[in-house]
Amino acid sequence: MTSALPLVIAVDGPSGVGKGVVTRWLATRTGWHRLDSGALYRILALAAVHAGIPLDAHERVAALASDLQIQFIGETEADEAILVGGANWTHEIRAETTGNLASQIATAPVVRAALLQRQRDFRTAPGLIADGRDMGTVVFTDATLKIFLDASPEARAERRHRQLSRKGASVNLDDLFVEVRARDERDRKRTVAPLVAAPDAVVIDTTRMAVPEVLENIEKLLDSRQLDR
Ligand code: DC
Repeated sequence: MTSALPLVIAVDGPSGVGKGVVTRWLATRTGWHRLDSGALYRILALAAVHAGIPLDAHERVAALASDLQIQFIGETEADEAILVGGANWTHEIRAETTGNLASQIATAPVVRAALLQRQRDFRTAPGLIADGRDMGTVVFTDATLKIFLDASPEARAERRHRQLSRKGASVNLDDLFVEVRARDERDRKRTVAPLVAAPDAVVIDTTRMAVPEVLENIEKLLDSRQLDR
């Protein structure tokens, strides 16, 4: 029996691997919606900080999730705006420090559970491109196509450095490398929904690939699965 649910393409991988570029391209290419699940963890971590809730008070952090009014605006990285309760949190959400806060709350099962349905609610017609760590392994296990992007920590720190520099942030490459390693460690080693490729995922190591080559590989996958429009 075929599922009546809209199709999902899951794109997972570590921080700085280029999931944002790939999932935005896929969303444009397919005309499907996009879920940036990392942004939800980032928003929840910031909401906890703003409310003065310690990040290790997991039950209290999780309880905040249901009341968050979130709006994602814009389709490109340049015109992206994320509004929370009507206030523009975009800049704060994208800060490297916020990624680390998100990674800390993401280790807690109760926090992950609180965000689960919210992520699944993004699955609306005509389809969904889901960007995260556990899209293929937990949130959308029935995804039609699962892609796991990987790259060495050095390559990812350099990409992050270029991305943040473009946005005018002054960051030190060595510090970024240390942060990338620390975040990897936490995301891969946590006991619940660790960052790992689903057994049925197509793994693409992008360490030595420029963006066009990565997209060419994905284009071929779309063709082979007859997922192109
Ligand atoms: O993709 P990102 O850098 O915006 O994610 C920030 C953190 O959120 C990441 O280090 C771990 C957590 N996260 C997660 O645990 N599961 C997801 N599906 C997405 C993000």
